[in-house]
Amino acid sequence: MDVKALLNQMTLEQKVAHLSQFIARCIVHDEGGDITGPSRNLSLTDEELASCGSVLNVAGAEHSIATQKRHLEMDPNKIPLLIMHDVIHGWRTLYPIQLGLGATWDTDIVERCSRMSAREASAGGVHVTFAPMVDLVRDARWGRNMESCGEDPYLCARMSEAQVKGFQGDLGDKTSVCACVKHFAAYGAAEGGRDYNSVDMSEHTLREYYLPAYKAAVDAGVGMVMASFNTINGVPSIANKWLLDDILRGEWGFNGPIISDYSAFRELKNHGFSTGNKESARLAIEATADIEMMSNCYVKNLCELVAEGVVKESQIDECVLRILELKNKLGLFENPYRNADPELEKALALCEEHRAIVREAAEKSAVLLKNDGVLPLSADLTKIAIIGPYANMGMIGAWACHGIADEAVTVYEGVRALNPNATITLAEGFKGDLNEEPDYKMIKEAVKVAKKAQAVILCIGELSEQSGEARSRADINMSKAQIELVKEVCKANKNTVCVVFNGRPIILTDIIDTVPAIFTAWQPGTEGGNAIANLIFGKANFEGKLPMTFPRHQGQVPLYYNYLNTGRPVVGAKDRFYSGYIDETNDPLFPFGYGLSYSSFEIGKPEFSANEMTREDSVTVSIKVKNTSDVAGKATLQLYIRDLYASLTRPVKELKAFKKLSLDAGEEQTVSFEITEEMLKFHTASGKYEAENGEFRIFVSDCSNTEEYATLILK
Ligand code: NOJ
Repeated sequence: MDVKALLNQMTLEQKVAHLSQFIARCIVHDEGGDITGPSRNLSLTDEELASCGSVLNVAGAEHSIATQKRHLEMDPNKIPLLIMHDVIHGWRTLYPIQLGLGATWDTDIVERCSRMSAREASAGGVHVTFAPMVDLVRDARWGRNMESCGEDPYLCARMSEAQVKGFQGDLGDKTSVCACVKHFAAYGAAEGGRDYNSVDMSEHTLREYYLPAYKAAVDAGVGMVMASFNTINGVPSIANKWLLDDILRGEWGFNGPIISDYSAFRELKNHGFSTGNKESARLAIEATADIEMMSNCYVKNLCELVAEGVVKESQIDECVLRILELKNKLGLFENPYRNADPELEKALALCEEHRAIVREAAEKSAVLLKNDGVLPLSADLTKIAIIGPYANMGMIGAWACHGIADEAVTVYEGVRALNPNATITLAEGFKGDLNEEPDYKMIKEAVKVAKKAQAVILCIGELSEQSGEARSRADINMSKAQIELVKEVCKANKNTVCVVFNGRPIILTDIIDTVPAIFTAWQPGTEGGNAIANLIFGKANFEGKLPMTFPRHQGQVPLYYNYLNTGRPVVGAKDRFYSGYIDETNDPLFPFGYGLSYSSFEIGKPEFSANEMTREDSVTVSIKVKNTSDVAGKATLQLYIRDLYASLTRPVKELKAFKKLSLDAGEEQTVSFEITEEMLKFHTASGKYEAENGEFRIFVSDCSNTEEYATLILK
């Protein structure tokens, strides 16, 4: 399609309307009704609605097809709609939430999950997914931790590109969907962990830690970018010309459409950044924002701004062209319905192949935090208790798209399938409310059930709806009811295993000494119960590693491994005049990169090909890794670097590479990493991105808390 010719045939009014996005229900009510709701509130004319360029939220293939059909009947230019949706961790078949994906440290399974999700979503009539969300997170209170791959820029960047590759593949292939990386930028740094809150940070911190994962998506060819709700240093992202035009388009060369978050244009007034919708439209177009989601600042004001000479028509043309070009890449002009197909959608939903992928992801994402020998449970048990209200509930997490909790395998169902002859007894123990006080009647009942069983599986943590958008928590401790229950059940039965469901790090300090074994399963998705049962009974091995630090106390938040040393570090402190607390240590309960397995690994000393390097060469580090157990397993080798002295203070450790190794029982392998100049670079005091000469410490281990290092000199 010659999109320029198409642009030339559009009137200014039609072009402006093309920049709007409304919910699909504005076009075809998914319950068969007429145009209602938001479109009325937005007071759209029939002409404005007819020329709108994209919609969000479709109920499935039939709705998508009906919406496109109706639109094409109405649009004088017959330009197909872009149909978008939040396909975050699956369409109907759900994989674990992104924090769980981060815990896999496995870009291959992440890419396969995204691919699977694209297949289902495209059959459901979706062209663009509002994913991946790659906001770096350091504050466990923020509800949207669950959507992120964690606290580390390098890990988040690798997961970001894996998701983009998986969703998009080749955009010309109709089983792909275009990815829209979000929320640009630094939304995860919302002050106090409060959703939608402001972000105030230096450009150095922004570039060093927060931007790499978005940049990785752009480098992987992401088709769209969503600007974040938050301000950065006083400027809301959708009106931030420096962020969107200078950095994203200018420095990174991104030339696809930029979309706002939901009604973010209109919210510029609430921020106190614009006096009203007309000024918001001017600010956003100056920042090169292309699509306005669910408000009417562009559609109602841009023509007037052009007439007044404030905005040039060519600015609007550029926005429309970017949208038309994406439609062209997706093949919508040839086939506006693309892969939408009710039969295919039905056939793919929860199909065996997709279930196998999400089950594998759920197994890989679980992180074993403690095991004093209770796990794995024996296959010969005849009496098993499963306690907690989540025992027989589908744990699919927030942003579950068209997934249905009742379709997900529960822990009870998973354990039952593996142990068809065992007697399995359930008890609730608590209700699952936040800040819940113990109900001693329920606890007594649970203890009774625990006493009669040979082993107990105790399901605790957060419900799906206790994390997600607008679900920040001031208190990230477990409820008193859960703590009391854990204590009493563990007293009653020493063979107790705790499964924690969570969308963020929660404080496990009060129970960690009591429980014999505990692992986090996050919100594991459709196959959660099967994956959990496989892990508990040793049919699968644990290999997950924490993508976020688990604090010991919520007062430590934000707590992350790549902190700056300060002038008064705790290490070696002899008095209280150091950077710490008088009532708590700085140590986390579980550090970033931590996770146990049924295998045990011996990690040798790193050997270097040289102890010095120049910018022209590189150094190879090799480490022997041995599986010293009699169980095959996977070790995750993590390479951290510390730049000891620099023009700006550098973190005590930074992840620069990782590799997963499969090792049979007793097997030994040598793993090598190449250290290049690129890995030593940072945003220096002079504003450049470069490596400075000097001393670097290199750490290789299977957790971030290692203190063993070797020194490398860059000359
Ligand atoms: C608001 C959320 O912040 C964003 O992540 C999402 O994509 C949009 N709503 C659309 O649902």
